[in-house]
Amino acid sequence: MLIKKEKLSDIKENEITDESVYKQRREFIKKTGILAAISVVPALMVSSCADAAPEQATLTFKKTSHGKDLKPTAIKHVTTYNNFYEFGTSKSSPAIAAQSLKIEPWSITVEGDVKNPGKYNLEDILKKNPLEERIYRFRCVEAWSMVIPWVGFPLADFIKQLEPGSKAKYIEFQTLHDPEQMPGQKSSVLQWPYTEGLRIDEAMHPLVMMATGVFGKSIPKQNGAPIRLVVPWKYGFKNIKSIVKMRFVEQQPKSSWELAAPLEYGFYANVNPKVDHPRWTQSRERIIGSFRRRKTDMFNGYADEVASLYTGVDLKKFF
Ligand code: MTE
Repeated sequence: MLIKKEKLSDIKENEITDESVYKQRREFIKKTGILAAISVVPALMVSSCADAAPEQATLTFKKTSHGKDLKPTAIKHVTTYNNFYEFGTSKSSPAIAAQSLKIEPWSITVEGDVKNPGKYNLEDILKKNPLEERIYRFRCVEAWSMVIPWVGFPLADFIKQLEPGSKAKYIEFQTLHDPEQMPGQKSSVLQWPYTEGLRIDEAMHPLVMMATGVFGKSIPKQNGAPIRLVVPWKYGFKNIKSIVKMRFVEQQPKSSWELAAPLEYGFYANVNPKVDHPRWTQSRERIIGSFRRRKTDMFNGYADEVASLYTGVDLKKFF
């Protein structure tokens, strides 16, 4: 593969991911035809975009005590070991291929049951929503984890500014859909645009962030520039990148991963060591950048804050 020849990263997917998980995932990829998507990133783009990788802007933000005892994962892992299927299915391709994404100007269209629908320029959103830094654990459904210092603002503040109506029970989020800029969308690996959803009370939880930065700088394209969701107690796939649309709806939305493999990826996607993925255990995780593994914590360690959201919910059924 041409992408793999590029020495952007000194880590390979199978060196980091638990070998059995790696093999199972490749099996799934083969089964569903995802492998074909890797070839949609043209070779020429790979070299020209790698050269053009921009410096990230330094951000102004308030420091908080969130995660002050956690040691962030090295920046090279956070920015070169990515899942962003719009830019290929290997972990290393987004850091190269995503450089083609045009992130200015950027807006989020708000639709559905809200008093203030419309198209919001990112600059205007940021004027009303000051940035802060929070260090969160990040747990991928593939059983690896990182610790990431996000810069962003609480999603709840933005939601309050939009004034949802009484029928708004869920929020559906969508990523940009533009196969010219996002060559992975020329394949049918997932249904595009990438779509995710949260119950409105989950979305309003104070831990949920809209992130525009990481490590004190604007968020790199491969990590979801210019704005992405961060829900630290859920598996990484809920953390939708490069968001252009939010719809306030009455019915539970279908996420791209639920549509692709409903028995494997549920709507809730809460980190839960007691509910295994059908093909591997979720009770342990491999720490990226280290040879260690750790036991996975319920709700990724945020149980004290979020368990009450799921009182009376059968988490095995609603996985
Ligand atoms: N968002 C979009 N639009 N497309 C994707 O493929 N992958 C998800 C999530 N958000 C994805 C996405 C998955 S599976 C994970 S684990 C995280 O992004 C990875 O985020 P990171 O690359 O910043 O670590």
